[in-house]
Amino acid sequence: MFLKKLLKIFCLSLPLIYLVPINGQLVSGPMIGYVEHRTAKIWCESKPGAEIQLFYWPADSIKSRSKAYRSIQNNLGFQTFTFDLVGLEPGIAYQYEIQDQKKKSIPGGSGTFSTQTLWKWRIPSPDFSFLAGSCYYGNETAYDRPGKPYGAESNIFQSMAQEESYFMLWLGDNYYTREADYYSEWGLWDRASNSRANPKLQPLLKKMGHVGTWDDHDFGPNNEGVAFPLREESREVFTSYFPNPGAGYRGEGIYTKLTYYDADLFLLDNRTWRSSDSMRDSIDGKPNPEKKMIGSQQMEWLKNALLNSYQPFKIIINGSQSLNQHSNKDCWMHYPVEINELLEFIQIHQIRGVIFLSGDKHNSEIIKLDRAGTYPLYDITLSSLTAGSSKLNAAELANPQRVNQILLKKTTMVKFPFRVQPKIESLKWK
Ligand SMILES: [Fe+2]
Repeated sequence: MFLKKLLKIFCLSLPLIYLVPINGQLVSGPMIGYVEHRTAKIWCESKPGAEIQLFYWPADSIKSRSKAYRSIQNNLGFQTFTFDLVGLEPGIAYQYEIQDQKKKSIPGGSGTFSTQTLWKWRIPSPDFSFLAGSCYYGNETAYDRPGKPYGAESNIFQSMAQEESYFMLWLGDNYYTREADYYSEWGLWDRASNSRANPKLQPLLKKMGHVGTWDDHDFGPNNEGVAFPLREESREVFTSYFPNPGAGYRGEGIYTKLTYYDADLFLLDNRTWRSSDSMRDSIDGKPNPEKKMIGSQQMEWLKNALLNSYQPFKIIINGSQSLNQHSNKDCWMHYPVEINELLEFIQIHQIRGVIFLSGDKHNSEIIKLDRAGTYPLYDITLSSLTAGSSKLNAAELANPQRVNQILLKKTTMVKFPFRVQPKIESLKWK
């Protein structure tokens, strides 16, 4: 069934113009969050102090109008709202409207969404598609590195907003903090806010649901992990801009699991507990158990969550690549004790239907990991949305794990798992 679902991936690189307030009250949004059978989340950012409410109703019955529960994240001059819409019915279209304190509609603050169909025990899982991507760099000349802007145009978001997909999966580096941003809590908020406020992004935020995990640049400085002193503050900022239904455990981390029809999505947090990339993979010829990417607490959760998943498709989402044995840096394979522990667990327990998704690399490819006596694992890497493409060394360019040797650097839209458009011929999924 998964082959019937179109995972639409965009790897276009185009210029970026933004930072104009959307209207009098909203800074960005509304953005649809996670929508399941009977609840939904809708997010927006307002000017500080703005008093707004959200109302919703079945598209065919405005008489059944309800007021959403509201939570406010307010800090250092930034104010975001997460609205919880409850008591919904499965498989129904809804409308919503954001109002100001005078009970007037806020321009641009209304839209529609549909809940997931209650299919289990009733009908085959409905087909659905989703978008996925990573590495969104918004240019701000005063704080960017000198020279050619690192971020490209963001017209890709306008193209994505034309797609009839159920949700967008953000694979990390969903905004890029820089020197001017990641040395202060305010800077982390400011970068998330000004990236999200890009006018070209707004139609996509309203068109479909949005969920995601982070990587280094929306967590903090390049390659940062457990040593980042503002990691708690960064978590607060991220969860204020990505209202996933869960975020780690007891106030730590952002990992969580989501379900869309017959696919479970396991969003990993590859930063909160991450050892330095500079720590040696092995010492005296033995893999180094001290080097971890996701940490023991999260590993315990992931193993048990995989075992408890009864969906045929189990998608493990990691901001970093997971299965590339020929990567010269920043891949879970450089944390050999931990990744081998997971791979052995999947093999021993004969867990079916596992697929990896990843971002970060500034190019896109499918990595295949053959396994003795069972199905191969794939790691589908999708990058980048607007950030520049990266240069690969000779070993990576000739990577024998790359499916069909298709390496995408930019300006390409991929429809997975079957077609790469417009220049590359059929990509066969086995
Ligand atoms: Fe990254």
